[in-house]
Amino acid sequence: MKTLFYNIKELFQVRENNNAILIGSEMKELPSIKNAFLLIENDTIIAYGSMENAPTDFDQSVDVSGKMIMPSYIDSHTHIVYAGNREQEFVDRINGLSYDEIYQRGGGILNSVEKLRNASEEELYNNAAQRLEELIALGTGVIEIKSGYGLSLKAELKMLRVIKKLQENYPVKIKSTFLGAHAIPPEFKGNQSGFVEAICNEMIPEIAKSGLADYVDAFLETGYFTVDETRKIVQTATKYGLKSKIHVNQFTAINGIEMCVEENVLSVDHLEIVTDEDIKALQKGNTIPVALPTCSYFISIPYTPARKILEANLPLVIASDYNPGTTPSGNMNFVVATACIKMKMTPEEAFNAATLNAAYALEVDKDYGSITVGKKASFFITNSIHSIYAIPYNFGSNLIESVYLNGKKQ
Ligand code: NIG
Ligand code: FE
Repeated sequence: MKTLFYNIKELFQVRENNNAILIGSEMKELPSIKNAFLLIENDTIIAYGSMENAPTDFDQSVDVSGKMIMPSYIDSHTHIVYAGNREQEFVDRINGLSYDEIYQRGGGILNSVEKLRNASEEELYNNAAQRLEELIALGTGVIEIKSGYGLSLKAELKMLRVIKKLQENYPVKIKSTFLGAHAIPPEFKGNQSGFVEAICNEMIPEIAKSGLADYVDAFLETGYFTVDETRKIVQTATKYGLKSKIHVNQFTAINGIEMCVEENVLSVDHLEIVTDEDIKALQKGNTIPVALPTCSYFISIPYTPARKILEANLPLVIASDYNPGTTPSGNMNFVVATACIKMKMTPEEAFNAATLNAAYALEVDKDYGSITVGKKASFFITNSIHSIYAIPYNFGSNLIESVYLNGKKQ
């Protein structure tokens, strides 16, 4: 079945091929075709170009007059499987408590751990599915989902099974990540090394065997997991054939990025605090920096210094970090807007960071991230808008009219 999308006001992120992640000034260019067509066959893009070259051989057609097409957002960092909410902590922060003070009192991540352990798999699935459906309507076509609110083998496997069920039931492409080292659970209080041992000797081997995780993550941060502990976790993951994506430099810079680059970690995520040494370390390897602007927005912490990263000729990805504590939103349109407004990324840079570059952070660049012949037909159609700048400019509006995932209208 061939479907022609015609009279597209502007078709964005068209790339004949993509051989490498965009770095530095390469991110300034968002290639597009005005007055374009897009031809898909079943779930695959088979041609695109100017309307004067539009094909005549197709089975059905969609008039896209006045509207724009962008490949689906790729949200490379989320925690959308969780129970309950942290609305009270939100108010506690407004009243003056910090994220760290709330954690020291046994709240924060541990609040969500207690709720998750008491929740049934079915309840977790239903809540996560509802979140995922909202994100699909907002333009997300590929998503990474982490565990990390179980912190025991049993509860982490429960989370990973929920992610697997989402993979089976939704057309969005999902990558899953085991985040056992997210916080120290109550049963290991005062015995952090025992918990790291449990992660490395029991959890990672079982989880690798289960095939339920694509990646391993850890929260490398003062008061959470040290550089050496995280290195041990990353090395264990590597031994079991799993790459790592690491939470690092959210609140403090403790040379974690250097270790991540040395260990060939796939991505380092957060980076609200970045030193010159961190930049130098990133320049030495292939580890991808990922910024989470709406986390900075929600808990009022510094924004990742995007300009500094791009001036150093590095790549940059943006993702939502959707989670109950620091970012209870996965709206990638707002992530793009926040990157533009607060991190001084141009809209072109922000869309590149949320589509093509993000595909590399999830190793899905062969199939997603651009309008390229042979890639999956996963994209969104906007309302009638003047230019694509409308998405970050009208930051509170949803300007997405319809969504296609793997060739199917959602
Ligand atoms: O990415 N910083 C670590 N993990 C999450 C927050 C988790 C939570 O507060 O529940 C983050 O911000
Ligand atoms: Fe996170």
